[in-house]
Amino acid sequence: MNTPTACRATAADLPEVAALRHRVFVLEQGVPAEIEQDAADAVAVHVLSRDATGAVVATGRLLERDGLAVIGRMAADRAVRGRGHGAAVLDELHWQAVLRGHPAVELHAQLTARGFYERAGYAPVGEPYREAGIEHVTMRRPLPVLEADPAALRWALSDAGQGTVTALVTGAPVAGGSVTLTSRAAAGGPWAGRLAALARADLHRGGRSAEQATGPARTRDVGPSA
Ligand SMILES: CC(C)(COP(=O)(O)OP(=O)(O)OC[C@H]1O[C@@H](n2cnc3c(N)ncnc32)[C@H](O)[C@@H]1OP(=O)(O)O)[C@@H](O)C(=O)NCCC(=O)NCCS
Repeated sequence: MNTPTACRATAADLPEVAALRHRVFVLEQGVPAEIEQDAADAVAVHVLSRDATGAVVATGRLLERDGLAVIGRMAADRAVRGRGHGAAVLDELHWQAVLRGHPAVELHAQLTARGFYERAGYAPVGEPYREAGIEHVTMRRPLPVLEADPAALRWALSDAGQGTVTALVTGAPVAGGSVTLTSRAAAGGPWAGRLAALARADLHRGGRSAEQATGPARTRDVGPSA
């Protein structure tokens, strides 16, 4: 079985994302539908993972609230849980937050999902509380800082919605260490060159930048024209 990868959802994906969330939160967990879908959906970055048939089987969203990156609405279809789709969505949400320069990300974890987030580097903040009738605890984790050419970042932000970028932050983004950004695309696809350039940028928390280490990443040559 291939490891799932996630991507940013396009507008066309949103009905399927909403249907999945309805199945998980409203039908399975009993959250009122009017709470489950909210105004934040219009401004959030939505991420999804698909199964081998192309169906959307996991999702989550990223919001910026008072300057803080906040992840929410993490849901994997019951039929695929435990197969890495949730982790893939979380990785992509972290990447989307890194692209936006957030040094940390926070979420309100259902207590039953606490172990899932702990595996992804989160630690609890404060005591548990009830939200939407379900026990939650706030959790937070640091993110690596991306040092890359602004043109590459603009391109990544604008293009990620097309699902051609599946970037994973690999390695533990712990204080003082650097982590590597890897990008994948269909071999020889139209974005392969740009992805290769983007992949040369390293993710750092301090220390040398990728350009100091390996020379210019030439991202300007391959960035977007607009
Ligand atoms: C929480 C949820 C999104 C996880 O999605 P998933 O696709 O099952 O997760 P993955 O298969 O990617 O799991 C990644 C790792 O976390 C572990 N894990 C998954 N769910 C876990 C849980 N509830 N508690 C502890 N560990 C968990 C997996 O075993 C796996 O561990 P491994 O890396 O050692 O193999 C999914 O269970 C879900 O949708 N639950 C119902 C809705 C919900 O509770 N959402 C969270 C709201 S805060």
